[in-house]
Amino acid sequence: MYRFFKPLLFSLSAETAHRITVMLLDAAAAFPPTKALLRRWYTSPDPSLARTVMGLRFPNRVGLAAGFDKNGEHIQGLACLGFGFIEVGTVTPLAQEGNPQPRLFRLPADRALINRMGFNNEGLEALVGRLKKLRETGAPEGIIIGGNIGKNKITPNETADNDYIQCFEALFPWVDYFVVNVSSPNTPNLRALQEKEPLTRLLNTLQKSNRQKLIPKPILLKIAPDLSNEQLNELAEIVQKTGLAGIIATNTTISRENLHTKNTEIEAIGAGGLSGAPVRARSTAVVKLLREKIGTDLVIIAVGGIDSPEAAQEKFNAGADLVQVYTGLVYEGPALIRSINEKS
Ligand SMILES: Cc1cc2nc3c(=O)[nH]c(=O)nc-3n(C[C@H](O)[C@H](O)[C@H](O)COP(=O)(O)O)c2cc1C
Repeated sequence: MYRFFKPLLFSLSAETAHRITVMLLDAAAAFPPTKALLRRWYTSPDPSLARTVMGLRFPNRVGLAAGFDKNGEHIQGLACLGFGFIEVGTVTPLAQEGNPQPRLFRLPADRALINRMGFNNEGLEALVGRLKKLRETGAPEGIIIGGNIGKNKITPNETADNDYIQCFEALFPWVDYFVVNVSSPNTPNLRALQEKEPLTRLLNTLQKSNRQKLIPKPILLKIAPDLSNEQLNELAEIVQKTGLAGIIATNTTISRENLHTKNTEIEAIGAGGLSGAPVRARSTAVVKLLREKIGTDLVIIAVGGIDSPEAAQEKFNAGADLVQVYTGLVYEGPALIRSINEKS
């Protein structure tokens, strides 16, 4: 099915293609016969795929990575594609436009994307409103929803904790787990929050609120693949000391090494985070290093360059509990989810 649409979608700008894809998906999911067809094609209802991780029952180990459904607008449609979990966001307290377009680019020769979206999103209130409505109708059945939280571009790092706490508090009743995103390369200075002092303060602040809840929820930290091994070790210690549930490894990279796409083309695209096949090896190495460092106590969700069951298996072998996909979906279509579930 996707093979039929892909040439058409690839003839459009990447952001327009994304908009059309989710529009078609929403339309198909709103009409019971096509919804049933989607579910039949793409879901794997095998109960042996289910896993309990962080105290949550995931129907399977394959999730949708953050950034695909930033505003929680397409959960019903995405739920028909066989995901075990969907991570919405990154959401910021206030709506923001993100960077000017074009800001999303395909690199077909590398099966990759470069994006500098810049946390474009409709803001916390809009996301909470949608999730509340969905939850109140009991949808989507059985799928775990994660909330990926960030800070507004205009918020200085010194007061960033307030943005994260605001997102955490407002989303708390509506998501199953949280992800603290301090690793996007597209919000100026955001990645400085990965440094020891600000990160410890931020995570302690969030955990303090979390522990005051009747039933605290798992919080994970999403990290960049560009950190040195020494920085990764330090981060792992911070995550352990602050009592987080785990780590999501990794976000996009600012590296442009070993690409097949022409240099002139890469230079013309400019700044942004690279995702897809070129980030696969480093993401796997990060997962492996973290697993060796932290043992089995913490959860690792692996993301980066998963575009086949073999690529997913590589992440599980490195120590991942769960995996997520984004760029692989663009190149392979939704059948990727089922094939990972059935073959890895
Ligand atoms: C267009 C685009 C937007 C993204 N937006 C976010 C985001 O808002 N928050 C986030 O944590 N990660 C975001 N990511 C990163 C992905 O969640 C993922 O970590 C990364 O792309 C590596 O996985 P992949 O190779 O499967 O794409 C985005 C990625 C892409 C391609």
